[in-house]
Amino acid sequence: FQPKLLAGKRVVVTAGPTFEALDPIRGITNHSSGKMGFAIARAAHEAGAEVTLVSGPVSLQTPRGVLRVDVKSARDMLAATLAEVPAADIFVATAAVADWRPATSAEQKIKKDGTGAAPTVAFTENPDILATVAKDERAKSGRLFCVGFAAESHDLANHAKAKRERKGIPLLVGNIGPLTFGQDDNQMMLVDANGVQELPRAPKLELARKLVGEIARRLPAQR
Ligand code: C5P
Repeated sequence: FQPKLLAGKRVVVTAGPTFEALDPIRGITNHSSGKMGFAIARAAHEAGAEVTLVSGPVSLQTPRGVLRVDVKSARDMLAATLAEVPAADIFVATAAVADWRPATSAEQKIKKDGTGAAPTVAFTENPDILATVAKDERAKSGRLFCVGFAAESHDLANHAKAKRERKGIPLLVGNIGPLTFGQDDNQMMLVDANGVQELPRAPKLELARKLVGEIARRLPAQR
């Protein structure tokens, strides 16, 4: 009898884009489909974990057996994530969180004033969810295993290595942004303290299952 890889583990996954409101009608978002994060949530559940998926606005079905928490903005995503990670063993940040949000969001729809003048938008930086979680004592001591993603356009290995160190996490998954957003398949570069390992192009669910295996074998041994 082979116990499932993540039996008894709790996993939190962030997925999708965030939506940063300008007014009640409009906002700023990005092209993240959420597919990679949803695939990881499904694969972790298949591996026996209890999974919470904190999702930005996407049009995807919730994987069976997974608890889904819907959020809009980066700040909502941070709050929902911080509510879940204290009980978690693994945190996987796949969400394409907006780096900035409009500094103010109008309470009413912004209207044209008839003069042809266009509004200007000032931005303010959003919290970094992964970096916030990675600073936590449980993450630093290895009781909460954190995995980050990096979507780069070029020089993936160097950017991915630098990002792993900057975020202070044990494992970072690099992919080429334009080749993954919205696609059903992906290719991955796994970067940990020992170096780089390539997972060749494959359907996202297949890569998600492989990634779950890679995470499982990096977890601290049970006492
Ligand atoms: O710094 P960069 O945005 O490229 O880092 C990407 C990684 O950090 C992803 O794992 C992403 O989910 C996470 N992230 C986050 N909160 C942010 C920005 C990125 O959790 N505000």
